[in-house]
Amino acid sequence: MGHCVTTKAGRITGEGMTREHLEQIRDDAEIRMRELRDLGLCIDMSRGIPAREQLRLSDALLDDALIDPPISADDVDCRNYGGQQGILDARRLLSPLLGVPEAQVIVHGNSSLALMYECIALAWRKGVPGGTAPWSAGEHGATFICVVPGYDRHFAMCEDFGIRMIRVDMLNDGPDVDAVRRLVATDPSIKGMWCVPKYSNPTGTVYSDEVVKELATMPTLAPDFRLFWDNAYAVHPLADVDESLANLYEACVGAGTTDRALIFTSTSKMTHPGSGVAAIGASEANIRWWLDAAGLRSVGPDKLNQLRQARFLRSPSGVKALMEQHRLLLKPKFDLVSHVFERHFATSGLARWTSPKGGYFVSLEVVPGTAAKTVALAQSLGVKFATAGSCFPYRDDPDDVHLRIAPSYPAIEDLALALETIAVCTLKSAADELLRQARR
Ligand SMILES: Cc1ncc(COP(=O)(O)O)c(C=O)c1O
Repeated sequence: MGHCVTTKAGRITGEGMTREHLEQIRDDAEIRMRELRDLGLCIDMSRGIPAREQLRLSDALLDDALIDPPISADDVDCRNYGGQQGILDARRLLSPLLGVPEAQVIVHGNSSLALMYECIALAWRKGVPGGTAPWSAGEHGATFICVVPGYDRHFAMCEDFGIRMIRVDMLNDGPDVDAVRRLVATDPSIKGMWCVPKYSNPTGTVYSDEVVKELATMPTLAPDFRLFWDNAYAVHPLADVDESLANLYEACVGAGTTDRALIFTSTSKMTHPGSGVAAIGASEANIRWWLDAAGLRSVGPDKLNQLRQARFLRSPSGVKALMEQHRLLLKPKFDLVSHVFERHFATSGLARWTSPKGGYFVSLEVVPGTAAKTVALAQSLGVKFATAGSCFPYRDDPDDVHLRIAPSYPAIEDLALALETIAVCTLKSAADELLRQARR
């Protein structure tokens, strides 16, 4: 299997650097920090959200002509109540992204994260198909496997429910499946695992076919184990060629673990976040389970928005064409990250970073014990980055090494300054820390 994105063994140590060299790096960084402070910057790099010019790509959605006539392909009057599973037009559009037949797709609401939350809440209160008790009543409590570094909102959700989190390292080809296999085979409290299988947040990793197969086939002690397959970046390449991801649902069907897969996606980062549509694809039993509960809380989703989104995006090739326009706007920003980091770190090797082929994030690895300090320094210069540790359960990055860089939102001129800020702050804290260690 591949190497860990930030292996403990391979941490950055600055080995071989002389005291004079480190002092020079520190002094140069301090000079540049003073200049950056004088610019009075105010840049927010804390979340990976689309920039305004990306939002404009979908502004035709603001035109009501898209919902005229308001009747779906399955003859539903979208102005009226009902249609809990979502209209056929939207299910048909999203079924290839989920890799699940359209009859087993639910389109509901604007947020896939909300659908994940509802699945956990339902499992917590009622249990899931194949289980014998609600997750909250499990004899051994409930535990999720969390791949690290990972998506902070997944971990916050577990924390909110009191679900214990076990970390597993992200390797180059996906989670460390040897560790996952051992854990799920021996711990009956493990009910779920968070996976962002394509262009993962924040490492950009794409799960290999072998990893997908292993996750689908591995025996689990808990009969009610679920993979929360958050395919938020299913169609979000940065490179010329979109990476392929094996179909989890088919792998589960083949392995006789059909109910294991809960697959999520949304059009949030295709059209307008907050006004897109979200979907779940899963087994017939899981779909029935979700729909039975959904009927208690709502008389049906916003089908006019589903119609609007489906008519705007049209087809898988329509989605692809739109995502190519996003790619052309995002690519120069990610290229700038590589360029600035290369310029600042190539000689000293005092930081490492990922070069994702898709998605919204770059992971930056710094000298152990300096990530939080680096973010605080950047903030003091007017540039806000994600809180150090936020990509780990309980916000605890044990070695304090990981930073999440989200280059999508700022204008390119601001981005250049923000990246330079984080680079010089990284060098300043690295040099301080290594000089401190040398003095001991
Ligand atoms: C991995 C991942 N999942 C889900 C979301 C949010 O998706 P939605 O807008 O559909 O709730 C994000 C947004 O950043 C994300 O990075």
